[in-house]
Amino acid sequence: MTFNALMVEKDEDGKTSASVQKITEDKLPEGDVTVAVEYSTVNYKDGLCIGPGGGLVRNYPHIPGIDMAGVVESSSDSRYNAGDKVVLTGWRYGEMHWGGYSQKTRVNADWLVTLPEGITTQQAMAVGTAGFTAMLSVMALEEHGLNPDQGPVLVTGAAGGVGSVATAILANLGYEVAGVTGRPETTDYLTSLGATQIVAREEINETVKRPLEAETWAGCVDAVGGDMLARVLGQMKYGASVAAVGLAGGAGLPATVIPFLLRGVNLLGIDSVMRPYENRLAAWKRVATDLPMAKLDQMIVPATLSDLPKLGGDILKGQIQGRVVVDVNK
Ligand SMILES: NC(=O)c1ccc[n+]([C@@H]2O[C@H](COP(=O)([O-])OP(=O)(O)OC[C@H]3O[C@@H](n4cnc5c(N)ncnc54)[C@H](OP(=O)(O)O)[C@@H]3O)[C@@H](O)[C@H]2O)c1
Repeated sequence: MTFNALMVEKDEDGKTSASVQKITEDKLPEGDVTVAVEYSTVNYKDGLCIGPGGGLVRNYPHIPGIDMAGVVESSSDSRYNAGDKVVLTGWRYGEMHWGGYSQKTRVNADWLVTLPEGITTQQAMAVGTAGFTAMLSVMALEEHGLNPDQGPVLVTGAAGGVGSVATAILANLGYEVAGVTGRPETTDYLTSLGATQIVAREEINETVKRPLEAETWAGCVDAVGGDMLARVLGQMKYGASVAAVGLAGGAGLPATVIPFLLRGVNLLGIDSVMRPYENRLAAWKRVATDLPMAKLDQMIVPATLSDLPKLGGDILKGQIQGRVVVDVNK
């Protein structure tokens, strides 16, 4: 029996090309659980892996897709049985290991999480690594004392994947959310997710001029990094925390240490890839309760395997709004 997958091949000149191909099950890598994939999504890393690889993919031919949700077909691990609904993000799946842009996948049981009640496989992929990381960020801010009475929370890269989900979760929890975007046309979308203030990217994207500005934000989920993160650090309220998630605007951090020393600001690193199982389960359970599914459904941009070569390019250019959900069976 064959099934479809998006296969990336590399030619003798080192050029890569991606196309939907028919694969047989014996070609799948070793692993203890075989899953019938239902949905996947598109992240920045997927854009790299669908294209030239960005150093993430070591072996070709390769099936990208760093996330998947589906139904267990067979398992040699006692934690999983045929019919279980599961989700996988992280662990370098779709980079080092064949990923979710495939109707079937075989994986290590330790990488899986059983989907909590109240969330479908389609919704799980509307969440994906981006939304899961947004949830981890909100949980980290709460662990450092954030509550809705403290004032507005800033979300940078607000119209992107991490930003959209962070905005919807925070607004649902009663926070006042300010979204930073470089795309004014996304204002209605961000407002519908619960943002009450829109900050234009250019207002906050300049290099730090003064190490401290007015104390404005009670917390921040930052998907952008670079100059924007440096600037935001100087605008945080006394003792407030910033969850550093991404580098859409750059990996550098041209900041001073003054906000840490004089305002006790905390910079919290958020990694979603190597998170231990208990953390993952806790975050997926919080997603099921704290993210309004009607708002999540509103973020969905539907796609199929054959749309992926174009979408991979779009995400690298920062042109995707919301959450792409790839139906691998269409
Ligand atoms: N730490 C982790 O485990 C983890 C997990 C997932 C993702 N990430 C990282 O988090 C970041 C966001 O991921 P995502 O999936 O949300 O990506 P995305 O959907 O592409 O969103 C990124 C957003 O950042 C803004 N942006 C893009 N280029 C920018 C620039 N040059 N300057 C300022 N803002 C810019 C855009 O938002 P606007 O259009 O609204 O301005 C864009 O939509 C990426 O760097 C990704 O690699 C990290």
